[in-house]
Amino acid sequence: MRVLVVGSGGREHALCWALAASPLLTKLWCAPGNAGTAEVAENVSIGVLDIAGLVQFATRNAVDLVVPGPEMPLVAGIADAMGLAGIACCGPSAAAARIEGSKTFTKELCDAAGIPTALWERFDDAQAAREFVRRRGAPIVVKADGLAAGKGVVVAASVSEAEDAIAAFMERESLGAAGRSVIIEECLIGEEVSLFALCDGVTALPLGAAQDHKRVGDGDTGPNTGGMGAYSPPPALSAALAEAAMERIVRPALAELARQGMPFRGILFAGLMLTADGPKLIEFNARFGDPECQALVLRLQSDLLAALLAACDGELAHFDLRWRDAAAIAVVMAARGYPGDPVKGTEIRGLERAAAMPDVQVFHAGTQRVGGRLMATGGRVLTVCATGVDLRAASESAYAAVAAIDWPEGFCRHDIGWRALGAG
Ligand code: AMP
Ligand code: GLY
Repeated sequence: MRVLVVGSGGREHALCWALAASPLLTKLWCAPGNAGTAEVAENVSIGVLDIAGLVQFATRNAVDLVVPGPEMPLVAGIADAMGLAGIACCGPSAAAARIEGSKTFTKELCDAAGIPTALWERFDDAQAAREFVRRRGAPIVVKADGLAAGKGVVVAASVSEAEDAIAAFMERESLGAAGRSVIIEECLIGEEVSLFALCDGVTALPLGAAQDHKRVGDGDTGPNTGGMGAYSPPPALSAALAEAAMERIVRPALAELARQGMPFRGILFAGLMLTADGPKLIEFNARFGDPECQALVLRLQSDLLAALLAACDGELAHFDLRWRDAAAIAVVMAARGYPGDPVKGTEIRGLERAAAMPDVQVFHAGTQRVGGRLMATGGRVLTVCATGVDLRAASESAYAAVAAIDWPEGFCRHDIGWRALGAG
């Protein structure tokens, strides 16, 4: 199989790393990739949103399977375009990817399929939104309807905070077109976990669960980020709760999408709140999480490539995945300044030493090799991962590897896994 992974983050390095281990693989490319993907795949300098360029590359190089990592190319129709060119793509069509691209779409899907989620209302008018918030009171959640790279959600502790968010999104258009309409939601209380399922349009196969850490600082403080760390499995999601979430949330969504004529193929990511009334959906994403993916692939024992092919072929009903009985942790190292304005062009040393430590795997994100030197080029730069018999062992290995990395301009959270490990 000749495979093209699309993206340049830690998630895509982890996907390349797992795919490279498959006996089915003959050739692996990553577009545009990073210094880490270059070690297991051939990097191709085509951007993730250059759909025509990616289709042309895949056609010319007889690619058998395209694996998009991020949501942007999916929402832009990469799966549709590859389909027209006769190339299998393990991701949803643009129509089905609206499950991530439009919050209204997802909320209507939940209502149609009876999926438990926060009560909601959509507003195109700021004044009406403000009146609703005053009537409902706080805490309350204000969300931009469109894609806003993690910046479109405000969990407001007070009515005035919610009103500020409405003014910023709808009147000052701080998020551009994405915030012209908002959704106002009931605030769900509980522990948050991410549940992943590989889908072939009809069948959903559980791909494991993880807990992300979205705030930049220890103890869940500071601004939101794309994710500063993750671990799997999350003890908060028992086997019974995971099955309940599959039965009440994931499978009904898949069935409803198929019923509406847009079967979902690829990775369905359900962000869940484990409330006193059971799991409720916060949001769906149409892809793997980053850094959740890095933790999950370390626990996957089965051939990832075979699984993704089965999803494309509609064969998941006859497929099974095996998982290592181990815990995995992913600690993101970011450049100082992230998630604001990260410092760029600093050198990272000691990575070989860290990566050679037992049970450790280091995935790259914003890295580039310049001559013999490894340079940081982005916000999130490395994901330092480890496995262990339990989360504590995995955490000790990962943080020992972090300590071995010589990068003064980088930082990480020191409490990844704290909810499961006890006091941070
Ligand atoms: P989203 O972009 O929808 O994932 O939201 C970002 C974060 O906001 C989530 O990961 C939750 O921590 C929080 N959040 C979103 N919706 C709700 C809700 N209805 N109740 C409580 N927290 C929420
Ligand atoms: N880590 C959260 C996400 O990928 O959306």
